[in-house]
Amino acid sequence: MDSQVTGEARVGEAQVASALTEAVAASFAGAADPRTREVLEAVVRHAHALVRELRPTQQEWQQAVEYLTAVGQACDDTRQEFVLLSDVLGISSLVEAVNGDPDGTAGTVLGPFHMTDSPVRALGDSIDQVGTGTPCVVTGRVTGPGGTPVPGASVDVWQCDEHGFYDVQQPDLQPPGNGRGLFTADEQGRFRFRTVVPSHYPIPTDGPVGRLLRASHRHSFRPAHVHLIAAAPGFRTLTTHLFVADSPYLDSDAVFAVKPGLVVDFAEVDDPEQAARHGVSAPFRQADFDVRLVPDERAKVEQ
Ligand code: BEZ
Ligand code: FE
Repeated sequence: MDSQVTGEARVGEAQVASALTEAVAASFAGAADPRTREVLEAVVRHAHALVRELRPTQQEWQQAVEYLTAVGQACDDTRQEFVLLSDVLGISSLVEAVNGDPDGTAGTVLGPFHMTDSPVRALGDSIDQVGTGTPCVVTGRVTGPGGTPVPGASVDVWQCDEHGFYDVQQPDLQPPGNGRGLFTADEQGRFRFRTVVPSHYPIPTDGPVGRLLRASHRHSFRPAHVHLIAAAPGFRTLTTHLFVADSPYLDSDAVFAVKPGLVVDFAEVDDPEQAARHGVSAPFRQADFDVRLVPDERAKVEQ
């Protein structure tokens, strides 16, 4: 085939492909909900563009279908491999980014280890029930616009231990609720709790997401962090992390969740008086993290 014939065949193919894309997109015109229609049309346009760009063989398309099938089959009541896939592809972080508000503390991924019922604890309590790690005190304030305190805000925290494991990953070694606590901020929006310095750790790699990471020679580690959800009536709930400033992997988080403003100094304090005041032994590490919430526009409309 000479190049002119090949070129003409490509042009013909492109016209057919574009007509196909438009026909499929138009097939959703009758969707009752305009957002559903918008989403389905965009999915078709982008998926068709991907096929035009990659020109997968039938065998490659079959492999893609098998991969996504395996991701689905790896999901159960306690494991969500699709969320993990969205995490390692940076999609979870991108969804956070497009929903973020520059006036508030940056949000970041929820991750799979949050429990809906964190143990309720009093301000200053320890979330560590094992006592083998480096003692640590975390303090902070929940504020709204202009730095005004948000009294009574709930602050739900969870973290892994000093070896990089969450309680739910080691039910035989860690008591349930270890590394977790649900606190209520005081009248000035302040919160504080004792814990141990968390470690960096690998995300689960025994499923299809692990295969993807190995195939691309990517590591599976997350930098050390404490998860936090801050919530109060009239404000958008914030799901975020505090990252330990001297942790490995801050520059290469497997789930792309590190953001400026979330990396916090866990400073060493070697002062027995301060240690006694916080109820920990010296030396200990101390982190201070203020959370700025943004008003919930929907709540304003409902008022
Ligand atoms: C986590 O930080 O708990 C996490 C987040 C995303 C994927 C896996 C773990
Ligand atoms: Fe985590």
